[in-house]
Amino acid sequence: MSAALCPVISENCRPSMSHLPAMNRSSTFVVLRADSPVILPSLLLCDFGNLEREIRAVEAAGAKTLHLDIMDGHFVPNITYGFTIVEAARRITDLALDVHLMIANPARYAVQFVEAGASLITIHAEAVDDPRPILDDIRAAGAAAGLAFNPPTPVSAIEPVLDACDYVLAMTVMPGYGGQKFTESVLEKVRLLREMLPPDAMIEVDGGINDDTIARAAAAGAEMFVVGSGIFKTPDYAVSMNKLRQLAQQKK
Ligand code: DX5
Ligand code: ZN
Repeated sequence: MSAALCPVISENCRPSMSHLPAMNRSSTFVVLRADSPVILPSLLLCDFGNLEREIRAVEAAGAKTLHLDIMDGHFVPNITYGFTIVEAARRITDLALDVHLMIANPARYAVQFVEAGASLITIHAEAVDDPRPILDDIRAAGAAAGLAFNPPTPVSAIEPVLDACDYVLAMTVMPGYGGQKFTESVLEKVRLLREMLPPDAMIEVDGGINDDTIARAAAAGAEMFVVGSGIFKTPDYAVSMNKLRQLAQQKK
């Protein structure tokens, strides 16, 4: 099928090139490292009927980066949203946008998400045979490239491509839904990764991060903490984010 006929990649439905990333790859990481430990509110748990209000609220609460979960109903059982919400978030805010692709074919869509406004793109090791060319494409498009792995996946499965990653996302739940219970055994893999990765490569954790778990994840070596229900299901986002940041700094 030609591009002109393809309903997915025709020019009519490609995201507009006018929403280029607000920051390039190196300035994104300057911001992230300066903000470490980084608390990334996961919009999955926000009120999408009031998206701008929710984004303004986490901005006011001190967020420097937002986490957006893209689910396709194939790689994970759930379906969320796609380019239009990433573009909308990019129009609303200049914050860095961390786009977590839980999709079966990231090679086809990763660069389009950069064009939609993503500053960081995470693909899943379990979704592809060889992540390296996709990570290279993400970097070439101007975004930071991250590789995620699920709790059952061994670190040895991603070791050959760690040099192509700006950061690694250790999933602390099986991806698909917010509000799940943190998987304690992943912390051993975070410790192992911290020894293997160069100091400037960051480790992100996602799933079940809250007041009870964040300090242990930080002590294991994580510096980027995705938080959905621990922010959006609490009454005061600023109070919740400040407490999470303090707990991550204590590294108990
Ligand atoms: C789950 C998503 C997470 C989710 C986290 O697959 O990747 O980003 O929103 O939500 P909590 O913090 O509630 O586990
Ligand atoms: Zn996520």
